Amino acid sequence: MDMKGRKILITGAAGFIGSHLADRLAGENDLVLVDDFSIGSMDNLAQLENRSGVQIVKADVTDRERMMDLCQGVEALFHLAISCLRTSLNQPVLSHDINAGGTLSVCMAAFDRGVRRFIYVSSSEIYGTALAAPMSEDHPCHPTTVYGASKLAGELYALAYHRTYGMPVSVVRPFNTYGPREPYAGSRAEVIPRFILQLAAGEQPVIYGDGLQTRDFTFVEETVEGIVRAAECDALVGDVVNVAYGQEVSILQIAEILAELMGHSDRGVKRAEPRPGDVRRHFADIGRARALFGFAPQIGIRTGIGRTLEWFESSGIASRAEPRASGLPNW
Ligand SMILES: NC(=O)c1ccc[n+]([C@@H]2O[C@H](COP(=O)([O-])OP(=O)(O)OC[C@H]3O[C@@H](n4cnc5c(N)ncnc54)[C@H](O)[C@@H]3O)[C@@H](O)[C@H]2O)c1
Repeated sequence: MDMKGRKILITGAAGFIGSHLADRLAGENDLVLVDDFSIGSMDNLAQLENRSGVQIVKADVTDRERMMDLCQGVEALFHLAISCLRTSLNQPVLSHDINAGGTLSVCMAAFDRGVRRFIYVSSSEIYGTALAAPMSEDHPCHPTTVYGASKLAGELYALAYHRTYGMPVSVVRPFNTYGPREPYAGSRAEVIPRFILQLAAGEQPVIYGDGLQTRDFTFVEETVEGIVRAAECDALVGDVVNVAYGQEVSILQIAEILAELMGHSDRGVKRAEPRPGDVRRHFADIGRARALFGFAPQIGIRTGIGRTLEWFESSGIASRAEPRASGLPNW
């Protein structure tokens, strides 16, 4: 099913990945961009605000009646709205309500309105730490956090709607995604933006644990491309697919690359207590995405980090960084 000339609804559209997905689909489609703006920001959607065919709606995905109204006439729905991993460490019920309950509510609305393609954007966190690597879609699902468990519940609800009612559901499991607009403040601040701000403020990057934990970092434009191609792939309906770059990089390596790019290689790093439930190892097997829809990411970690840094510098966010308690745990 081509994602062209469609009416498409995106939940979590004012967030990091959702706003890039909206950019990618705008122009060729009519978009209903849904977000409760609890975390997401209008800044992320400013470029789309006055574009014809784009409707920006403040709504809560757990509000089933509202979602029912919004799904009227929608042909494809990308469900991304979440409460994030770090929030789940202190507010597990919120995580459950939004990530699992919200997904069920969106499934019910989409099914009721006859949505023709439902794309559940899941997460590599559903796997837990790698028992074998690279991790294919058949890797056991042993999430370590309530966030991971709630994302897995969302997957299972969406797939249940496929198995029981025949709703055309596809599940995409992105691995860690980074790039412009990545959250840098409060509990949503991710590792790459935090390191950028710490280095820009004259501090050492703060690493929780030994820094040897790994992730498969994927540049946001490539994650979005994978999500769109997965949505277009008829053979994926009823199934799941990994979307990642396909390379294992440690948190320590990230700190080193950034320090070098910012001219602070001699600064070293500061170590702190590990984050509870932190996954030790993530490294994706992307063979299924390659075989099904020719997914072939090109943006390696140094290039991607360089582009991310450029955005944090040109947006003025890096130069406003202040030496303060930026290394304190944000969960
Ligand atoms: N960022 C990553 O590295 C990554 C990796 C794997 C998977 N994912 C998945 O991608 C999706 C998007 O992640 P992101 O990093 O862009 O997150 P994000 O926090 O930037 O975006 C989530 C958006 O959901 C909105 N939201 C929260 N609760 C809501 C509610 N009740 N109703 C409506 N909107 C609500 C927030 O305001 C926010 O704009 C999520 O499903 C996440 O699990 C992200």
